[in-house]
Amino acid sequence: MSNDVTHSGSTHGTGGNADVVLVLGATGKTGRRVLARLRLRGTPARPASRSSPTRFDWSDPGGWDAALRGATAVYVVPPSVPGPVHEFAARAEAAGVRHLVLLSGHGADRWGDSAFGLDMRSAEDAVRRSGLEWTILRASNFNQNFDEDVFHAPLLAGGLALPAGPVPEPFVDLEDVADVAAAVLAEPDRHAGRTYELTGPRALTFPEAVELISRASGRPLTYTRVSPDAYTAALVAEGLGEEDARHVAEMFVMMERQDISDTADGVTAVLGRAPRTFEEYVVRAAAAGAWRQRP
Ligand SMILES: NC(=O)c1ccc[n+]([C@@H]2O[C@H](COP(=O)([O-])OP(=O)(O)OC[C@H]3O[C@@H](n4cnc5c(N)ncnc54)[C@H](OP(=O)(O)O)[C@@H]3O)[C@@H](O)[C@H]2O)c1
Repeated sequence: MSNDVTHSGSTHGTGGNADVVLVLGATGKTGRRVLARLRLRGTPARPASRSSPTRFDWSDPGGWDAALRGATAVYVVPPSVPGPVHEFAARAEAAGVRHLVLLSGHGADRWGDSAFGLDMRSAEDAVRRSGLEWTILRASNFNQNFDEDVFHAPLLAGGLALPAGPVPEPFVDLEDVADVAAAVLAEPDRHAGRTYELTGPRALTFPEAVELISRASGRPLTYTRVSPDAYTAALVAEGLGEEDARHVAEMFVMMERQDISDTADGVTAVLGRAPRTFEEYVVRAAAAGAWRQRP
């Protein structure tokens, strides 16, 4: 495997490198944004994932030590079943890592005994109980789910069908999540032992979100409420595994049951400014052609 670290635009071997940040999930929605910010700042960063130059696979602990070599901090995007994070934290400590920054979910302690809640809290426990300094970033649903993830294909096809009624969600912009992660990684001591709830500035319902996207993109988009079973079946038909599909569907059931629609001040606490609005996201993505009808 390669163990390359980019620093100020050039690539070096890791031998002797100080303060390397290992970025897990580096090809994903948050990881690639965090990585770009670290690189711009000139922080030595090592992108890792199954398809990255530094190979990292949660199901293959044999490769972890090489990825961790020389790292002093890690941005951790946990796997959906977070058992391996416990072992990873121990390996990170043994490798000399000082700080873990974990991506988690908004209100992780209010999701009860759902698989969703148990998984998020398990990953958080792994980090909190490690002997390392840690910071936990609890993000609400991402704005970019509408153009980079699970909601995108249905919108391109003309409408979103979810098992969610008029439940408000304080969607957060991934640029804010990445700004926060980069700020924490720049001053880890200042943010040690802190759990930040990261939300947008206001909660809006899924029908409202689709309406804003429809207006900005100039396309008539529909929102339909469906049952959790129908939604699971639709996700499976799109190619998602049955377990993952149930997991996503369960999230909507829990959102209706628990009240996690509150906004929080995590973005402002770390960055000293208000979080980006959903409207800002929508105009940016619409202008970039995110929901343009394909010929
Ligand atoms: N979506 C939301 O609204 C939301 C809100 C709050 C929290 N979260 C949390 O965010 C996390 C997902 O983060 P994201 O959106 O940045 O990622 P993402 O866009 O879903 O991408 C997943 C990343 O993980 C890597 N990956 C996948 N399987 C892996 C494996 N077995 N071993 C190692 N790496 C693997 C992928 O790269 P390769 O394919 O190259 O391995 C990719 O870089 C989840 O834990 C989710 O619970 C999501």
